[in-house]
Amino acid sequence: MNILVTGGAGFIGSHVVRLLVNKYPDYQIFNLDALTYAGNLENLKDIESKSNYTFLKANINSAKVINDLFENYKFDKVIHLAAESHVDRSISDPLVFVKTNVIGTMNLLDAALANWKNNFVGKLFYHISTDEVYGTLGETGLFTETTSYDPNSPYSASKASSDHFVRAYGETYGLPYIISNCSNNYGPNQFPEKLIPLFINNIVNNKSLPVYGDGNYTRDWLFVKDHAEAIDLLLHKGGIKETYNIGGFNEWKNIELVQSLCKIMDKKLNRIEGKSADLITYVKDRPGHDKRYAIDAGKINGELGWKPSVTFEEGLEKTIDWYLEHQTWLGNVTKGKYREYYNEQYK
Ligand code: NAD
Ligand code: TYD
Repeated sequence: MNILVTGGAGFIGSHVVRLLVNKYPDYQIFNLDALTYAGNLENLKDIESKSNYTFLKANINSAKVINDLFENYKFDKVIHLAAESHVDRSISDPLVFVKTNVIGTMNLLDAALANWKNNFVGKLFYHISTDEVYGTLGETGLFTETTSYDPNSPYSASKASSDHFVRAYGETYGLPYIISNCSNNYGPNQFPEKLIPLFINNIVNNKSLPVYGDGNYTRDWLFVKDHAEAIDLLLHKGGIKETYNIGGFNEWKNIELVQSLCKIMDKKLNRIEGKSADLITYVKDRPGHDKRYAIDAGKINGELGWKPSVTFEEGLEKTIDWYLEHQTWLGNVTKGKYREYYNEQYK
């Protein structure tokens, strides 16, 4: 079986690639990634010499390149994670999100269709999406698979659009697909522009912790390895033309999460309790900031028995330890262009 994973050098993708390469020695795993600022082959150092792993440096925005790769490598299944993934960047530069998340997905869909259309047996286009396509919740309620799409940021609008195209290719051309919509992931290897790794890095470096608005925004958090396990499960057991919500059953208000993080960091860094929390600074809110995301993961749980295996306390501890042990990784990814982004975003 030849499996194409797009975006495998990124945060979630690298955990998916590692899991598949180690668990299925009989599968050939192809990691296609353009290595944007968010892609980093250091994430996969431990598996790069395995005989069932191949890295393909390519950009999904090029239809020809993608089609040639399909012709050469005869992929049976695609797990599509490559994307521009950060909401704040989508606010300052929305078009790149359309190019990669919408057009890039179209290029993959077209290549899959052109190469598979005579025989869809054993083929699968598995599209990885986000709960952000559903928009925002009030104080109560959960997103289910039938919640209407209502995206509020250019990022979520581009992901919603790609989800619609995947579904449309299934309905119109019979392309076998699965879509899963997951809540906020955290864990090792996440680029330090997202809340948890950004704040860990800032605490280590005694920099302020920029909490947007009043900090009372709520997210559901899932440890990245549990997401990778869910993806593996759906790849093998998911229903064709089905959508699955994946979540951590783990809602936190940002400010409460940040306070917990600060407490753990004080202990890890042998600081007096309260030292890290002193760095909390309320800053201007994100435009169009979604108030609350929360997932009903009852379908994947009820039909396939998946549930998170890592508690938030364990996951946060593992994540913090990983970042503290990988200061060189952090140093490398936060140099150069990232510094420019940071100065502009938090000026
Ligand atoms: P990430 O930003 O860490 O990684 C994205 C990867 O895609 C990088 O390796 C990057 O180099 C690659 N990439 C970007 N543009 C590309 C292009 N044009 N061609 C080829 N490769 C390209 O993202 P992530 O957080 O790992 O998210 C992966 C996927 O999961 C995305 O589709 C995202 O929408 C989705 N998702 C993420 C979360 C989350 O909390 N991070 C939650 C739910 C869903
Ligand atoms: P983020 O990690 O960017 O994920 P998403 O926007 O996709 O949910 O942000 C998580 C939450 O943290 C979100 O409510 C925005 C907030 N946030 C801050 O308060 N400050 C920051 O510097 C960042 C990056 C995020």
